[in-house]
Amino acid sequence: MKAVKLILNYIKYYFVSVGRHGLQSSFMYNLNEFVWRRDRKDADQEKIEKYRQSLLSDNTIVSVRDFGAGFGGKVYKQLPISFIAKRSSKPPKYARMLFRLSKYLKPQYILEVGTSVGISALYQAKGSPAAQVITLEGCDQTASLARKGFAQFPELNIEVIEGEFSLTLPQAISKMPRLDFVYLDGNHKLKPTLEYFEMCLAKVHDDTVIIVDDINWSEEMQEAWKEISSHPRVTISIDVFMMGLVFFNKGFSKEKFVVRY
Ligand SMILES: C[S@@+](CC[C@H](N)C(=O)[O-])C[C@H]1O[C@@H](n2cnc3c(N)ncnc32)[C@H](O)[C@@H]1O
Repeated sequence: MKAVKLILNYIKYYFVSVGRHGLQSSFMYNLNEFVWRRDRKDADQEKIEKYRQSLLSDNTIVSVRDFGAGFGGKVYKQLPISFIAKRSSKPPKYARMLFRLSKYLKPQYILEVGTSVGISALYQAKGSPAAQVITLEGCDQTASLARKGFAQFPELNIEVIEGEFSLTLPQAISKMPRLDFVYLDGNHKLKPTLEYFEMCLAKVHDDTVIIVDDINWSEEMQEAWKEISSHPRVTISIDVFMMGLVFFNKGFSKEKFVVRY
């Protein structure tokens, strides 16, 4: 039933969205040129994909905390690493979008809420290799897999903070002088998503982008996106179906875009 709803949402999105050539403002034009224009693969991305492949072929069983089950992540499941990597990591198309967005915006401070095995953190960090990256994960086993992966990229500065987001997010925010690039990809429910967004507002500035994942995944996430994109501090918002991007530049007038990607 959920899959059918998702397909119907996608069909609606497809017809409402603007093709990548119909975009107006120079800001949107540049994003189109540098971020959405279909990609060329490069060596950086290939190396991350090799890491992904190594996880996808690893059937070692690990004990992971299941936050989706509720009970504050106190339920554990025995799962093969291959399953975790496949189920929770951003697929290459959207991971590459994060890479190009990071490469274009050149953030110095990147914060990710939801590490899993580290694929999307690597893409964001590779896009802006001088950035300080903090990524948050509640499951110790998953976090330790991510750390092992990050060790293969010693040129990047990625720190994993373990624990429940409601505790680790304020901690991470206080460690950064400002937030340039934020990716919310964990605990996809209305209330926590809005809370995480609100917490981040303390350190956003004119050039910050906040990316909210899975905005069409459920009615709760659609509602969360509606509220976030309408927030008085948000100027431009962009719905690319699997994710939503919000910008805060006060020089922009408020506009909501739905872009076909
Ligand atoms: C969708 S995955 C992140 C995927 C990752 N961004 C990627 O694309 O490579 C979300 C992660 O958030 C963690 N998580 C979910 N709810 C949490 C919570 N309330 N506190 C801490 N971690 C949580 C889960 O354990 C899971 O690994």
